[in-house]
This record gives sequence, structure tokens and C-alpha cells, in this order.
Amino acid sequence: MQYDAYWSRAAHAMAGSAIRKMGTVSVRVPGLISFAPGYPSPDSFPWDECRAITGDLLAERRTSALQYGPTRGFAPLVDAIVEVLGTRRIASRPDQVLITTGSQQGLDLVARVLLDPGDVALVELPTYTGAITAFRDVQAQLVGVRQDADGIDLDHLDRTVAHLRAEGRRVRLLYLVPNFQNPTGLLMSRARRLEVLEAAARHDLLLVEDDPYGDLYFDEGTGPDDTRPIKADDTDGRVIYLSSFSKTLAPGFRVAWLVAGEALAAKLEVAKQAADICTGALDQHIVWQAIVRGVLGAQGPRLRALYRERRDVMERALRTQLGDVLRWREPAGGFFLWAALPDAVDAEAMLERATTAHRVIYVVGNAFFVDGGGRNLVRLSFSQPSPREIEEGVSRLAAAVHEELGAGARAGATGTGGASRGTSTPRG
Ligand SMILES: Cc1ncc(COP(=O)(O)O)c(C=O)c1O
Repeated sequence: MQYDAYWSRAAHAMAGSAIRKMGTVSVRVPGLISFAPGYPSPDSFPWDECRAITGDLLAERRTSALQYGPTRGFAPLVDAIVEVLGTRRIASRPDQVLITTGSQQGLDLVARVLLDPGDVALVELPTYTGAITAFRDVQAQLVGVRQDADGIDLDHLDRTVAHLRAEGRRVRLLYLVPNFQNPTGLLMSRARRLEVLEAAARHDLLLVEDDPYGDLYFDEGTGPDDTRPIKADDTDGRVIYLSSFSKTLAPGFRVAWLVAGEALAAKLEVAKQAADICTGALDQHIVWQAIVRGVLGAQGPRLRALYRERRDVMERALRTQLGDVLRWREPAGGFFLWAALPDAVDAEAMLERATTAHRVIYVVGNAFFVDGGGRNLVRLSFSQPSPREIEEGVSRLAAAVHEELGAGARAGATGTGGASRGTSTPRG
């Protein structure tokens, strides 16, 4: 049966995530080393603690763990989240919190509640693909704002908003990932955060602050003060703050939350009623107990050490094998290393060779740019592969890159254009 005639206008506009598609490549190519998905390491999961908690919850025959629950979320978990927010310097009340089925659901709800078809959502260049899909699925128009080393470029933001408003466009919100951004790994400076909040008030924009990685800082010089959320300084309810247990406990729970002004949180709750009635009750109970029993607290130092080591292994291997070709900025936390190939190398064209001939994959930068840029950029996730796999994967990547450069040089010698070496710097 042909279904095209049945699609809604919104369904026509929907496009699958480039990163999700790569999951099918991993399954198809045996022995593939994947730097593509932003999955946590399975070594980070608190297996024994989860087994004990689940056993206890079921042994107690705690009805609420297997029953439908409130759309807002399991109340003791909401209370525990208010405390977690306090450790991030965000003052909140339970009626401002909504538990979501992953932060991805939070983004979807925000899109459905705040954006009409044709409205403009501003995003960083580059930005998280899941936000791109959530906003596009409601037929919003995404407009990118450039970043520098400290975060979003405020002059560009001012000019972009002025230009769009002069055209009569409704510019509703600005989506940001200030802590160890996906994909660039960038940490927005404290000063820039305050300036962004001020600019949002000046332009009357809502800020959507997405913070799944803030606890995963690596360096002695980087800490909770540097990752202080913009929401912590929001006095008029302008910031919708999203965070998740996916990277700190396990993404399989699909438990995350958002905090927003009460009226906004209430509207988002209504939208969630239609989406899934409530987030899985057993998942919420396990996460609640993981907080109460101190499991979440113990994860922080463990995960910081685990991912710092992987970042170090990846950087060392890249320096040795591709140091003269690739350019990147050291990520101070999170899961991602964002690197630039020489301008002449098309990372998308190279992906085919990398996958089939060298059995290594990455995400091509253009998946993250709403303006079509990023073809010579790659996102390399160091979170999931083991240190040995990271070393082997970088060797394979180096072979692919050097072949690509060799092919470019040969083509250059025959007059069809050559590759330049190591001239670009990462954007963002
Ligand atoms: C910036 C960002 N936001 C949201 C998510 C989605 O997280 P969750 O598992 O909570 O849906 C991710 C996951 O990779 C992410 O990187």
C-alpha cells in the first residue's frame, strides 16, 4: 500500500536522525568501531546497585512501582530532583518540575507547546540533532547563531533577531547546550551565560537550556562553578532547563526532567498527558532510590575519571596518528571530540571508505548544522568504546584520512583539485 497521500503536513516534514541511521550501519558491519553515537559506556552503569534496588522494590510489592502514576512524575522523585537542582544552584519548587521520558521528550513537548508552523527557533551552529528533529517536526524554521570559544556569538544573535523580526517573523526561543555541548564539547564561559540571559530578556526570547553533561567535567580547573546553569541566575522564569539521568545513571531508564515557570510546566504537563500519560513508574522508582541511597552521588567522581581517561586516550592517539592533519579543541567534559579535517576533505564522502574499508564510523559535522555547513568536520564520541577500541579506531580513522588525502593529492596531480593539509580550525 502507498501511504504518501495519507501523511499529515507535519509527517511530510519529518526527517529521521542521521545518528540513529548510523546505528543500523554498526549492526551491518561486523567488527566495526563506532565513534558515532553518544552512548554512555556500559562500564558506567551501576549494575549491582540497580539489581538490589529493583529486587527490593518488587519484594516490597510497592504498588506505585508497577501502577500508572501522575503525569507530573512520581512525587518522591520530583522532591529528590528539587534537591539535585539545589546542588546546581537552581532554586525550584515541585510545581515547576516535570519528569519526562528522556530529555528528548522534554524537547518534543517544548516544541509542541511553544512553536507553531513557520515560527523561528534559534539554535547554536552547530547544535544537537535531537533538538533539530524535535523543532522541525512541528514545522518550525531553525535559524543558526554562530559560536566562538566562549559560546554563542551575541553580535550575531542580535543581528539575526533584528533581521528576522524586521521580516515579520515570530522568533520564539533560543536553544542552548552550555555544558560540554553536543557536538562540540564546548563549555560556555560564565560571563557569556549572563550575557545570553540578558540578551534573551532584551529580545524577549525564551531560553531552552539543555544540560545532560554538566556533571561530567574532567579537569581540576573545571568544576561546578564553571558549569553553573544559566537557569541558576534566571529570576523571571525565562529559562526552561532540561536535564537527564541518561548519562549519569543509564539511558535505558528514560528518566529525565525539566524545570520551568509554573504555568509553563503545567502546560507542558498537559502536552505530556497525550504523549505517554506518565513516564515508566518502575524506572522512576529505581532512579528515586538511586538518588536516596547515594548511588547517583557516587557516580559523579567515577564517571569523571572514566570519561577523562577515554578523552585522554583518544587525544593521545589522534596526536600521534593525525596530529598534522586534524584540528580540535580539547573537550573539558562530556562525551565528544569535535575535529576539523583539511578543507578539501569531505567527511561525508570519506565515511563510505571509513566504514567499508576500515570499519570505523563517526558522525559527519553537517548533521549538526542547520545552515548546511560542517562537511569537513567530524564528531568523535569517546564515551562508549573501550580505551583499546579507541586506539584501534583512531588507527583505522588515520588510515582512511591518509588514503583520502592521497587520493586528493593524486587527483590534484592530474589537475582535478588537491587536498590541503591541516589548515582548518574547528568551528564552534
Ligand atoms: C544535548 C542532548 N540533549 C538531550 C539528549 C537526550 O537525552 P535523553 O536520553 O535524556 O533523552 C542528548 C542525548 O544524547 C543530548 O546530547
